[in-house]
Amino acid sequence: MPELQILFTREQIAGRVAELGAEIARDFAGQPIVLLGVLKGASVFLGDLARTIPLDATFDFLGVSSYGDGASPGGEVRLIKDVDQSMAGRNVILVEDILDTGLTLDYLKRIISTHQPRALRTAALLDKPARRRITISADYVGFVIPDHFVVGYGMDYAERYRNLPDIHILPPEMF
Ligand code: IMP
Repeated sequence: MPELQILFTREQIAGRVAELGAEIARDFAGQPIVLLGVLKGASVFLGDLARTIPLDATFDFLGVSSYGDGASPGGEVRLIKDVDQSMAGRNVILVEDILDTGLTLDYLKRIISTHQPRALRTAALLDKPARRRITISADYVGFVIPDHFVVGYGMDYAERYRNLPDIHILPPEMF
């Protein structure tokens, strides 16, 4: 395994995730929520975030395909796994690992809205505004970052590195 530069340590991530969880808990105090994760990148973030939110919470997951195995977006988003439960009338928090071009979040927000949830909010651990192709932002953002390709804490390059506990920068010569 090569040495990759750390962008955020596990301690920095845990601190910020706890702050996001507290915000969500305040916003939905006394109400049940659904944490709806986007596979596979958001799975680690969702697991940690959920444990900082002392509310009645359930999990569900959506699967999309957009990047293939590479580091540049194909520009097309396809749903490959739909939700298991109905989102109608629920407080849904759509949980993404990273908001990049914005195409995935835009597509998923439109799909979930058709289910008529009671509320629909979005959480992204990382936000790379420099690469945005449409105007969209998340309601809960962990860290705004410059245009680096990052891996670890659930995020991959060609399915690798998801299990790294910190978030690292993947240098351009590696993809
Ligand atoms: P968007 O549709 O361009 O906003 O892309 C969102 C998805 O692309 C994220 O959920 C990630 O799965 C993937 N992605 C974007 N940037 C990175 C990165 O720096 N590292 C790993 N995955 C990324």
